[in-house]
Amino acid sequence: MTIGADAKLTKELVYEATGLTSLRFEHLASLVRLEMPNGNIQADGKQWIEYSEQALLHQAIELAKQWLSTAQEHPGQSFVITSGAVGSKEMQVHEGKQWRPIGSHHFSGFGNGKTTIAEALFYGRGIMTLNEVGQAQELCIYPAGKLRSAREWMLMQSESEFSLDRFLFSEQLGKPRVILIDDAGREGSLPFIRSTEQAPEIRTRYYDLINYCYRQKLSVILTSNYRLNELAAFLGGATWSRLLEMVPEGYMIDITGVRDYRPIAGGRVATLKQ
Ligand SMILES: Nc1ncnc2c1ncn2[C@@H]1O[C@H](COP(=O)(O)OP(=O)(O)O)[C@@H](O)[C@H]1O
Ligand SMILES: [Mg+2]
Repeated sequence: MTIGADAKLTKELVYEATGLTSLRFEHLASLVRLEMPNGNIQADGKQWIEYSEQALLHQAIELAKQWLSTAQEHPGQSFVITSGAVGSKEMQVHEGKQWRPIGSHHFSGFGNGKTTIAEALFYGRGIMTLNEVGQAQELCIYPAGKLRSAREWMLMQSESEFSLDRFLFSEQLGKPRVILIDDAGREGSLPFIRSTEQAPEIRTRYYDLINYCYRQKLSVILTSNYRLNELAAFLGGATWSRLLEMVPEGYMIDITGVRDYRPIAGGRVATLKQ
């Protein structure tokens, strides 16, 4: 990223460099309702839940900014962002004073910005320098930890000589500050483990990983396609209880209901404004 010669390392520059400002809102509705059997709103003989897609994503981004600005004083402060699959739901958007049906939308829990936000937090905790290049400057970020998919974190623990100390500590940067575990729940199956032992083994490996971070005061950034209660059950009580201490109130967020951006990026679906 090349910037002006007199640029300062401001928060705004960090948000931009880490990709946090790349998330858009134009395709999201400011007020929407989805037909859900457990919805608390009755209308047209159906049950609905009502929310603002824009506000959900906006809040997640604001929390991410807040997290970044307080992370230095709180080593080990962690962040969890999830969105679950709720299948195809009839949708209506509020326009003027009317509700307009827009057909059904498939909420896969994918493509709504979880990894983008998580990576912004991860790189935002990195070591940043502004280097002179000719007349301009270049912002360089050295990651202060490791970013891997949940599957990779699990698989690496299969190696007999594996040690988190060895994997995480770097000679150049010393103690890591942060790790990112992307997509908890998509570990697939572990090699050499009986099918009945898969779930307990995954829980044990998560326990070892999270407990290590807990003791070392290393921040964990975690994304998942599970809803929060499903994630708690999946990870197991001992791990979840540590996470509850590591993740301050508010930094555990579920953005289920924000639309998948990928079909929009691919031009497959018209945006709301069209
Ligand atoms: N609100 C958005 N505005 C612009 N791009 C978005 C938005 N949400 C997601 N994307 C883009 O869509 C792709 C998928 O997003 P990602 O963060 O990987 O989703 P998730 O991890 O929730 O599946 C990425 O290329 C991302 O930059
Ligand atoms: Mg993702």
